[in-house]
Amino acid sequence: MNKVKVAIFASGTGSNFEAIIEQAIENQLACDVAILVCDKPGAKVIDIANEYDIPTFVFDPKNIPKKEYEQKVVKRLLLMNVEWIFLAGYMRIIGPTLLNAYEIKIVNIHPSMLPAFPGKDAVGQAFQAKVKITGVTIHYVDAGIDTGPIIAQESVEIFPDDTKEVLQKRIQQVEHKLYPRIINQLIKQSLKVEVTD
Ligand code: GRF
Repeated sequence: MNKVKVAIFASGTGSNFEAIIEQAIENQLACDVAILVCDKPGAKVIDIANEYDIPTFVFDPKNIPKKEYEQKVVKRLLLMNVEWIFLAGYMRIIGPTLLNAYEIKIVNIHPSMLPAFPGKDAVGQAFQAKVKITGVTIHYVDAGIDTGPIIAQESVEIFPDDTKEVLQKRIQQVEHKLYPRIINQLIKQSLKVEVTD
């Protein structure tokens, strides 16, 4: 049976992308990663996609309005029968074109216990605030910034001698396990719903 196809959207180094790909390749996920969508030509995540032979859709948002690139992305994803979108360090707000085409099928990972520390540099924000606990949140994407309904959270302790870099690493280790697990759960649940309907 063909597996559910998903797209990963990323803008940066792609460590979450790689963690997902590795589990998908080892057949531990109920989905195949069909495509990487990236808004940063030259980003490291594109090299990772190439290493694993994952097709890419790369655009430069400086050269094309949001509505237009989102229309192109939707067209490409629908052509490939992509059913879910998982954001993994994608630094762009999702607009109505994508939100309408993939309603309740776009998910994001954020490195804090939302609603605490939304937006950019969540790890730095938590570090500066000197809180003792931060964490990771996986949530559905809506029109806001890190505001959609929460699917899963895992806390991460901040120790007195942590640097921001050490904390960031500890958070990413949690992300790399949590995200593939939740992706798998979401897809399996959606398949069950389709069968019993
Ligand atoms: C992750 O910490 C994720 O939570 C946030 O952006 C970071 C991406 O890291 N949204 P990477 O590119 O997956 O290494």
